[in-house]
Amino acid sequence: MRILGIESSCDETAAAIVEDGRRILSNVIASQADEHKLYGGVVPELASRRHCENILPVVKKALSDANMTIDDVDGIAVTYAPGLIGALLVGVSFAKGLAMMANKPLIPVHHTEGHAAANYLVHPDLKPPYLALIVSGGHTRIAEVLDYTTFRTVGKTRDDAAGECFDKCARAMGFPYPGGVHVDQAAKKGNASAFKLPKTKMDGNPYDFSFSGLKTYIVNLLHHAEQCGETVNTDDLAAALQKAIADSVTEKTIAAAKELGYSGIALSGGVSANSGVRDTLAAACQTNGLTLCMPPIALCGDNAAMIAAQGYYNYIAGITADETLNAIASKELRGESA
Ligand code: KG4
Ligand code: ZN
Repeated sequence: MRILGIESSCDETAAAIVEDGRRILSNVIASQADEHKLYGGVVPELASRRHCENILPVVKKALSDANMTIDDVDGIAVTYAPGLIGALLVGVSFAKGLAMMANKPLIPVHHTEGHAAANYLVHPDLKPPYLALIVSGGHTRIAEVLDYTTFRTVGKTRDDAAGECFDKCARAMGFPYPGGVHVDQAAKKGNASAFKLPKTKMDGNPYDFSFSGLKTYIVNLLHHAEQCGETVNTDDLAAALQKAIADSVTEKTIAAAKELGYSGIALSGGVSANSGVRDTLAAACQTNGLTLCMPPIALCGDNAAMIAAQGYYNYIAGITADETLNAIASKELRGESA
């Protein structure tokens, strides 16, 4: 079964064809990052306009790269939540029109569930149940993947996402948007123990995250240094920031896996490209006898192959949408309220 995936939740317009949820036949991404870089972050209205321009060429290319026409597709999966509402609406409206015109099933996909599904594309043995750690620019969440379409959140961020923390700190350090990858590169040259960063203490769910305190500490440290005319070694600060985030997501994920009895962990989301997060989690999984799956760097960030992969599993579970499908800016995982 071949699913066309469409993704437009943030600043990537993407389309892909995936067979049986596991094999990529084509994967096209038009990134707008260079344009948003001028403003230091994503400008929502600009993103919507670019999606509008790019969506048809991107879908056409995904079909032609796979040597297919729309008639060869068995279903159209689209990210409908969560994300920038104007950006989501472009993908949802386009997918609805295409599904109606081509008389194909329309399959709604939650963006975060899509990130987790990126691992199905490269790890043939990965099957639920497993514990997913999804870390991106908009989300940070540990979730049980009970079956392909049933999720249970174990913990999530109470404020900023890990990627947001990387990006805002990177901006204060003088790196361009999106800054996460620049922090990663700088961290390779730095000494993480040169700075002692605060560790967030929280009441309640021990698997929840909070990154806003860390972000504020770093932004204040940089402002203070600037006011005093002091220079800060950004390689060292980047290394300390990366270590703080990598340690936090690793500690909580390993503890959750132990408590809930999972032997397999799957990492995903844009921040899963971070070398510190990958290495720290891999080392901890090895120490604790847990298996770890993670996507190759090319499938960590937003793409439509992951949407088509999750779309396949949604479709065979009977999850389809009709012509009233709408975009939703904020939505919990399937089976959870809100
Ligand atoms: O999944 P994604 O493409 O979009 C969302 O769903 O949010 O994630 C984007 C985030 C950005 O915050 C970006 O800076 C971060 O992923 N990111 C990284 C790295 N590569 C991308 N953060 C840290 N290190 C990286 N190497
Ligand atoms: Zn994403």
